[in-house]
Amino acid sequence: MERVFSGVQSSGAPHVGNYFGAFRQWVADQHTADSVFCVVDLHALTVETDPAQVRGRTLETASWLFASGLDPDVCIVFAQSHVHEHTGLSWLLECTATFGELRRMTQFKEKSKGNESVSAGLFTYPVLMAADILLYDTNKVPVGDDQRQHLELARDLAIRFNGRYGETFVVPEAVVPTLAARVMDLQHPERKMSKSVTSPLGTIDLLDEPDAIVQKIRKAVTDTDGEVRYDPEHKPGLSNLIELFAAASRRSIEDVTASYDRYGPLKADLAETLVEVLNPVRKRYVEITADPGEVPRLLEKGAAKASAIASKTLLRARRAIGLLAP
Ligand code: TYM
Repeated sequence: MERVFSGVQSSGAPHVGNYFGAFRQWVADQHTADSVFCVVDLHALTVETDPAQVRGRTLETASWLFASGLDPDVCIVFAQSHVHEHTGLSWLLECTATFGELRRMTQFKEKSKGNESVSAGLFTYPVLMAADILLYDTNKVPVGDDQRQHLELARDLAIRFNGRYGETFVVPEAVVPTLAARVMDLQHPERKMSKSVTSPLGTIDLLDEPDAIVQKIRKAVTDTDGEVRYDPEHKPGLSNLIELFAAASRRSIEDVTASYDRYGPLKADLAETLVEVLNPVRKRYVEITADPGEVPRLLEKGAAKASAIASKTLLRARRAIGLLAP
């Protein structure tokens, strides 16, 4: 069976971009592939964080994964920091990656721009991500469009390591959805919806109540020409809504576009569809978090299963590179 692996940062409440760009695909994958999903709490430390929030955010993010439909009896869900092999392999891969290729990563360039004090961890972030993936002999990595370049790096590192030290890693492949691969901010449709940028009206969080969803969609920025047409270049705001609608209702862009000739009704029906899809997720989240012991227990079990796989791969990589057995 194919192995699927993916991860989400615990850097804040997940939004509809995370849900339609990634989580929903993971929920489907768990039934067709040997699936492993990770809350990447170490990646969340690459920007300054408040220790009082770190633990809570990891649990919160994991709770959203379970609420979205990941079943701990069917797939593995764990916290990255619980499986020490991730940092162990990351070092071997840091010694395989070059400074030049890491400097070219667009996400690093964006996140470090204008920032005086950038952590070394932000720079080596994509290498830890490669370690996450390669540790599980991963074939497929379901991600949003923004992770494509990181996936290319993971492939390059696997190929380089295999070439230098002998066949060690499976070379992974990114799987990006055809719809909602890059959900844009509702107020600033030129930039993607993001957990790390504060844009309360531009972001629909999974925790948002129906009223908030309706209001945010109603206030979403569009344009003044009034024509319902999918054209991301000239009509980025409306096109983002059309694509979100298509993803949420599992319809095609053409079908959604043909059904409306005015923005108002399109927005109203989109909001209604989002509420319908997200309501059960939010309800499950409330149920799961009612018992504060439940999610830590599930993560502990997940970590034990993940470690059993990861420890074998790390041992293989250590041997290949010539390290003395411990
Ligand atoms: P993160 O936490 O930013 O996002 C988690 C997943 O959600 C997708 N995503 C989006 N999809 C559509 N529209 C958006 N606006 C949007 N924003 C986010 C992301 O593409 C991602 O699939 N570096 C990764 C986490 C990571 C990882 C890994 C992923 C660490 N190790 C190994 C895969 C494999 C990240 O920051 O995702």
